[in-house]
Amino acid sequence: TPRVFSGIQPSGDLHLGNYLGALKRFVDWQSKDVETVYCMVDLHAITVWQDPKDLMHSTRELCAGFIAAGIDPEKSILINQSQVPEHAQLAWIFNCVARMGWMQRMTQFKDKAGKNAQNASLGLFAYPALMAADILIYHATHVPVGEDQKQHLELTRDIAAKFNHDYGVDFFPMTEPVIEGAATRVMSLRDGSKKMSKSDPSDASRINMTDDADAIAKKIRKAKTDPDALPSEAKGLDERPEARNLVNIYAALNDQTVDQVLTDVGGKQFGEFKPMLADLAVAKMAPISTEMGRLMNDTAEIDRILTRGSERAREITSPILRKTYDIVGMIPPV
Ligand code: TYM
Repeated sequence: TPRVFSGIQPSGDLHLGNYLGALKRFVDWQSKDVETVYCMVDLHAITVWQDPKDLMHSTRELCAGFIAAGIDPEKSILINQSQVPEHAQLAWIFNCVARMGWMQRMTQFKDKAGKNAQNASLGLFAYPALMAADILIYHATHVPVGEDQKQHLELTRDIAAKFNHDYGVDFFPMTEPVIEGAATRVMSLRDGSKKMSKSDPSDASRINMTDDADAIAKKIRKAKTDPDALPSEAKGLDERPEARNLVNIYAALNDQTVDQVLTDVGGKQFGEFKPMLADLAVAKMAPISTEMGRLMNDTAEIDRILTRGSERAREITSPILRKTYDIVGMIPPV
């Protein structure tokens, strides 16, 4: 059967982009006839400095976010990356398969390392090899992500192909990136040319999953728009990035296509559309934030869920690692 894997970094607050581009899709996959594995990637988070207390808190809160959004830890395998050591063990092998030149082309590395790349951590450079290991240690076939992860998933295929080729095996599968829906790239509420991101210094640029109803409504009311009425077809949103972003968000929250939304709201001014969007966002997001808060009252339960998840995960990852070591020529323990 197909196996779905995806991950989210526990580095600060989850936002609407993470929810619509990733979490909500994860929930959709859970109701299909596939095995689903979802991961908090704490090893990825520390590629840039994280305060230890914050990291631990964010990891638990992310776990609460997964569950509050609808991930059932009985149906899906829900794990924290560092608790399943095979991820890091396979990553080392992949560090030796991937080429420096491939890594240098990664736009996320260039963005995150900034001008002073010499001062970036070695882990930040190797980040995509660990990500390939996350996926391939499960022989995952499908990886739902937002658009910004596309290049990393292409690299995952390159690593799988080179491993298979170098060792003359057909062992790691070619993973399919799944980038679909109306909100694969949610943009900043303040600037339609920038991605919504947790690193944006302006809190008004994003809706956090921990925002309450008032904060959500206020941010949408203040979102940047243009003065024109909404068009009645999707192509009328070309060259209108802020307008398109708000319509995409509406469509994704309401499980509709952009054209369906525009059939209903075409011709309306933003003065009328924004309150509709705010109501919808509050209706969908506020219960998740309330539930996250409730789950965070019992972090011991969260830790038990993650421990159980890692036990289930290792039933899959440990034989795959053993086989990989055998292919590479490493002596097994006797
Ligand atoms: P991360 O933690 O940056 O983001 C988690 C997921 O949210 C999506 N996303 C968005 N989608 C739409 N609009 C946005 N503005 C937006 N911002 C973020 C991301 O595309 C992602 O799907 N490298 C990954 C984590 C990772 C991973 C993996 C993912 C580690 N190993 C293996 C898949 C498979 C990351 O940093 O995501």
